[in-house]
Amino acid sequence: MGDLPEKIDLSDVGLFAHGIPHEIFRHLRGESPIYWNEEACGSGFWALTRYADVLAVGRDPETFSSERRGIMIFDESFETSGRERMMIEMDPPRHTRLRTLINRGMTPRRVLDLEGFARRSFEGVLDRSLELGRCDFVNDVATLLPLQIIAELVGIPQADRPLLGALADRVQGFEDPELGGGDGENTDAIRQMSAYALDLARDRRRKPKDDIATAILQADLDGESMSDEAFAAFFLLLITGGIETTKAAISGGMLALTEHPDQWAALRRDPDALPGAIEEMIRWVTPIHHFRRTATRDTVISGQPIQEDDKVVIWYSSANRDESVFDDPFRFDITRTPNEHLSFGFGRHFCLGANLARLEIRVAFEALLARGVEVERCGEIDHLLSSFTNSLKRMPVEMRAT
Ligand code: HEM
Repeated sequence: MGDLPEKIDLSDVGLFAHGIPHEIFRHLRGESPIYWNEEACGSGFWALTRYADVLAVGRDPETFSSERRGIMIFDESFETSGRERMMIEMDPPRHTRLRTLINRGMTPRRVLDLEGFARRSFEGVLDRSLELGRCDFVNDVATLLPLQIIAELVGIPQADRPLLGALADRVQGFEDPELGGGDGENTDAIRQMSAYALDLARDRRRKPKDDIATAILQADLDGESMSDEAFAAFFLLLITGGIETTKAAISGGMLALTEHPDQWAALRRDPDALPGAIEEMIRWVTPIHHFRRTATRDTVISGQPIQEDDKVVIWYSSANRDESVFDDPFRFDITRTPNEHLSFGFGRHFCLGANLARLEIRVAFEALLARGVEVERCGEIDHLLSSFTNSLKRMPVEMRAT
């Protein structure tokens, strides 16, 4: 591991070029767990790297707001952006009402109904990759299932799915020059997605279907239903929050297994260990590095005074390796118990898609295990350049059924 920079700046995307900067986080957890991070362009933020502090913030949405200036490190002004807030950017009571409304449409039955579809989709993906033999695990294997599942859930026609997948990639690549990051591609992609969602909402109001889009648009909460604009914001959240994250978990999980062949062998010997292995993959990868909150009043976290309006950034990718919570946190162990990782967040904003994400990862690995697929790395991996999403862009592999 390399030397620590003289002044740590977690908003410097270069620190994430090779994945989670563990050495820096380990240092911060030990020396400065509530670290004031100056920013080149911005007011600076508190970086929280210990599990207990991340949890304390997640538990207290009244003091640590998602609504005041958004959940990204950079400030967002909803008054001027022209974009409707997503539920992830709301506080109670507004957030609670919307979450209740969405839960009425996104029932567990609808999620479970997707399992058969997920299996068929992934079998097709696997057939093609095995035929190729040598392929890119990220783009040929891990990407398609999360895209197809979200699209199927919402009710997006098959013909439109590749376009939405490409738009989702551009949104996630907001810091990566290879994906158009930094030159407005990102805002343009968000605009195109919102326009698509508005059309979809109008269409379902005219011609209701048996899909989640219709169910959510028709859901009623004390006489109140969802506007087309609010639907478009939710759509944006599903596409941006549900695809890249799950793809990151599947590909990063596979990477971890190839780097720990004893664990891959153990899983192949005992496929019943898969549920535990899935949680360990999700902890290990931590597909979302952080979210941001804004203090709504002067307060104190673990002895550190925080002022009203200060930005507070909670680093899940550090909390998940906190040595005071996880026994030997740098050991990848598919039998780890307990494994109370924070990859899906905590509290009122706990990931709405956690069970769906688990289902997708399970379907993918069950198929790989059932067909005895060998996966061998045969080239350099490439990380998405992002301080927000811990994802891979490429992972060349050789795949064969045994
Ligand atoms: C492994 C995959 C995934 C990871 C690691 C992940 C991570 C997260 C995290 C950390 C949050 C909390 C945000 C906060 O505290 O501000 C969250 C919220 C959310 N996620 Fe996920 N997510 C994943 C998959 C999905 C999928 C598949 C969907 C779509 C079905 C989804 C939809 C959402 C939504 C709608 C919220 C907002 C909930 C709210 O504000 O109440 N996520 N996710």
